[in-house]
Amino acid sequence: MHNYKETLARGLRVGAFTAAFACAAAAGVAHAHGDVTPQAVDTSSLKQLGAEWQTVNPYRDNKEAIRIGDSAFNQNCARCHGLGAVSGGIAPDLRLLDLEPETDEYFIGRVRKGVTRNGAVYMPPFEGTLSQEAMWAIRAWLETVREK
Ligand code: HEC
Repeated sequence: MHNYKETLARGLRVGAFTAAFACAAAAGVAHAHGDVTPQAVDTSSLKQLGAEWQTVNPYRDNKEAIRIGDSAFNQNCARCHGLGAVSGGIAPDLRLLDLEPETDEYFIGRVRKGVTRNGAVYMPPFEGTLSQEAMWAIRAWLETVREK
């Protein structure tokens, strides 16, 4: 099962390159996604995490974090990863991410740094735009829609 999911995720990722290229070409290069303003996310009702980046989700199963993460995802991620995290094929289907701590670390790394290859931005970095509280809240919500 695990291997099957990995294969599926990889397949979707390959699809993502193609779609991102097509999109950048159609829009006339690198500003393809640059005109969408990222949305600030209010996480003041959550336990604040300080300056140190966590590597394991501190908000797993936290109801308030899940509520915030749901809306934060729709405002910042859904335009590429799909409403409700149901990917339309432009970006990987995040419902397939595993739950292990290593996946937490992978998740936060990707969201902080984004993905750039050969100068093309596949996914913008969110560090400086979203707080780590917001990023972990998104992860907490993603786990509630996870495809088992
Ligand atoms: C402009 C489109 C875009 C936006 C916005 C975007 N992503 Fe992505 N994301 C991508 C693409 C494309 C990839 C695949 C990158 C690659 O590896 O080639 C990706 C990959 C990822 C991955 C790695 C998935 C895997 O299976 O390896 C994670 C995690 C992720 N995104 C989370 C997020 C989150 C959370 C947000 C919102 C805060 C977000 N992304 C916003 C396009 C986007």
